Amino acid sequence: MKTVAVRISSMRQYDIVIGTDLLANLASIVDLRPYTQVLVLTDSHVAPLYLNTFLEHHRHLRITSHVIEAGEGSKSLAVYEDIQHRLAALNFDRRSLIVNIGGGVVSDLGGFVASTYRRGVPFLNISTTVEGMVDASLGGKTGVNLGSYKNYVGTYAQPVAVVIDVTTLRTLDERNRVAGWAEVIKHGLIASRSYYEMVTSKHPLRFSDSELIEIVTFSCELKRSVVQEDESESGVRKILNFGHTVGHAVESLSYQHMPLLHGEAVAIGMVAEAYLALTRGAISGPEYDDLKARLAGAGLPTRIPFPLPDLTPLTALIEADKKNHGGQIRWSLISSIGACDHDVIVDDSRMVEALCQVVDLR
Ligand SMILES: NC(=O)c1ccc[n+]([C@@H]2O[C@H](COP(=O)([O-])OP(=O)(O)OC[C@H]3O[C@@H](n4cnc5c(N)ncnc54)[C@H](O)[C@@H]3O)[C@@H](O)[C@H]2O)c1
Ligand SMILES: [Zn+2]
Repeated sequence: MKTVAVRISSMRQYDIVIGTDLLANLASIVDLRPYTQVLVLTDSHVAPLYLNTFLEHHRHLRITSHVIEAGEGSKSLAVYEDIQHRLAALNFDRRSLIVNIGGGVVSDLGGFVASTYRRGVPFLNISTTVEGMVDASLGGKTGVNLGSYKNYVGTYAQPVAVVIDVTTLRTLDERNRVAGWAEVIKHGLIASRSYYEMVTSKHPLRFSDSELIEIVTFSCELKRSVVQEDESESGVRKILNFGHTVGHAVESLSYQHMPLLHGEAVAIGMVAEAYLALTRGAISGPEYDDLKARLAGAGLPTRIPFPLPDLTPLTALIEADKKNHGGQIRWSLISSIGACDHDVIVDDSRMVEALCQVVDLR
């Protein structure tokens, strides 16, 4: 078992524990004895796979399970309210614990419930997706969607610990595993050329458990250090947004055509934004082509898979993005393979050129 002890908040310290067979050995990682009762929040895909392992190993605790329907639709105020009522009926208080077992949907929703129920009860994240392990379960952002407005209602709140058992990825479907890998590749692109080359050296499904532990550890460490340096997202944390300015727009647009997973849209966004880096002379033509080949080799899309009549729907979404301040889009762009700048201003004509690299016009 490999333990990475990290300090993400300046006010609170918590551990991220990464390894194998952790679900069955949770007691050795987190002391659950002080909690008078536990609510396990999980979803309808994860519950049949992992809930029993957790329950069997914690028979001595007073545990209630709450299973939400799998999928983004559960990140809603309606589901949030259901859980709040459940907690109230259980007489949950500050000596109780919410354990989130699942991907980013469960940790975002469960963290938000926990941080607001009676002004805050403790929560633990047990992450079971790549996206969750390297991104969603860390960094303290929690929340739900407000209709079609993604993550509009939420808090910053830190869990008591994050537990990452890489063996749970064995049951995650290929599409979700590959999509989450886009964030792993992004970490290499913004912070380490050797990590980037290593994580794209073979297909994401071909990495062994010990390699996965090494990879998740690097990504967690990176997110920890960046978030710690800049909790309010005013500076260096923005480098984590590489690929996301275009990626978010592509993701939103895809819902009207052929829904893409977040990581798939980010892969396309990274291609467009790497092109911007290319036009600034930050990376070379061969490096740009190699990036596209590595993303494709990982099974990720490098172009929007549906044709568009023109670029307007895409540019409108990009311009509406929340990172667009004072009428100008501020880009996080790689400054070489393995380093990233933020708050870069780019000419509109360059943006159009970059979008043309990833769009097929009808
Ligand atoms: N808070 C943050 O900083 C942050 C960062 C990135 C993403 N997010 C959020 O995370 C969510 C996406 O997370 P996600 O990609 O983990 O999605 P998800 O939680 O919906 O999980 C993806 C699918 O895999 C299933 N699943 C999960 N673990 C499994 C396992 N081990 N075996 C089999 N099936 C499993 C789920 O039931 C679901 O169907 C989005 O809502 C996004 O906004 C938040
Ligand atoms: Zn992302």
